[in-house]
Amino acid sequence: MEKFVIGGGKALSGEVYISGAKNAAVAIIPSTILADSPCTLENVPNIKDVEVMFEIMTKMGAKIEQTGKNTYYVDATGIETTDVIFEEAGRMRASYYILGALLAKKGKACVRMPGGCFFGDRPMDQHIKGFSILGAECSFDDFKNCVSVFAKNGLKGGNIYMDVVSVGATINVMIAAVTAEGTTVIENAAREPHIVDVANFLNMMGANIKGAGTEVIKIKGVKELRGVNYSIIPDQIEAGTYIAAIAATHGKAVVKNVIPKHLDSIMVKINEMGVKTSVGENGDSISIDASGELKSCKVKTTPHPGFPTDMQPQFVVLMSMAKGTSYMRETVWECRFQYIEQLKRTGMDVKISGNKRDLLIIEGGKTLHGIDMQATDLRAGAAMIIAALCANGVSTISNINYIERGYDRIVEKLQALGADIAKESC
Ligand code: UD1
Repeated sequence: MEKFVIGGGKALSGEVYISGAKNAAVAIIPSTILADSPCTLENVPNIKDVEVMFEIMTKMGAKIEQTGKNTYYVDATGIETTDVIFEEAGRMRASYYILGALLAKKGKACVRMPGGCFFGDRPMDQHIKGFSILGAECSFDDFKNCVSVFAKNGLKGGNIYMDVVSVGATINVMIAAVTAEGTTVIENAAREPHIVDVANFLNMMGANIKGAGTEVIKIKGVKELRGVNYSIIPDQIEAGTYIAAIAATHGKAVVKNVIPKHLDSIMVKINEMGVKTSVGENGDSISIDASGELKSCKVKTTPHPGFPTDMQPQFVVLMSMAKGTSYMRETVWECRFQYIEQLKRTGMDVKISGNKRDLLIIEGGKTLHGIDMQATDLRAGAAMIIAALCANGVSTISNINYIERGYDRIVEKLQALGADIAKESC
């Protein structure tokens, strides 16, 4: 058991290099199952969720080799099993992509119910709806704690209207439809940058997907896919987290290896709060100058291109450092404020409000002090780090396994920005 020990009160400065996108990597890795030859994946983040996904794939029969700092050779051609009921698959959310990939490749799969962070109910009905329209029989086995899919007569393209905008369901159905006979149309699709990245990867392998990044995705089924070399996009949420941390500490730093367009909704709010930003000459870095006063603002989380729910906790801390009253409304997840009680103990003034208890009212400008905290999920853990960086005195954060699921070398990166942070045994 380890914890982060953080001494607060220092403005972050210098440079930070953003790693590959977690949510793209955890979908692209299982998508290699579709290829008839090995793939090489570059810019793979060194995070726990990727490690677990590689463990699952290895147990399934894939050969995986790290050939560079962030480069992996992935040969999934030896995978025979369609039974993925081992414990690792229940440790992460993205294991559900193995369902879509095996369904496309083998026509069937049985995958342990996915785990992941708890934000209330996390149904899979839209994944199942999509697979069913493509011709798969789907069932839940409570005894084995798994989801089974079986396409007795192969998969056939169909029209799927997603009742809710879901990142996971859009990607999963897109993967499954790649080899289905005929054309599949996904309407009301999610539009996150990693959906485009997964589609680009599949297209490079030989798929025929059009419209990823818009509300309508069209997939013409192909018979074969080949292994390719592919570099994963930078992580929009990791970038946003460092930007929020730099801003909250009134720092001045450069965030490198980003796609600024992916950060639009975050940067609009950062600028509204009085932080000066500029895109570097090469278009792949952003300079942040938060030495001035921070202003309050209003934010509502919505699917892309709106403000990402995965930036909600980090922004709440930033808002608490701004003068005046800020508002944060969460519309994607029904239960994503569990971390608030702990942050309040730092001296933050936050109230949960609204008929649906989906609104936070943040009275900013309070002095925070260091306390002991326990990460409640990945992004809440990141928010706690930012609060600790802003607080007077020393804070500790335990349950850091949540944080390490999605942040690559976070201690080293923050140290390079001048933060006083160390990992110690509990
Ligand atoms: C992904 C991200 C997660 C992020 C979320 C929203 C991964 C591994 N995780 O999660 O970090 O917080 O997108 O941007 O990529 N829903 C249904 N039925 C379904 C699926 C989802 O009702 O079948 C609902 C959910 O309850 C939620 C909303 O749709 O309210 C969005 O969920 P979704 O986009 O699917 O989230 P994930 O893919 O699980």
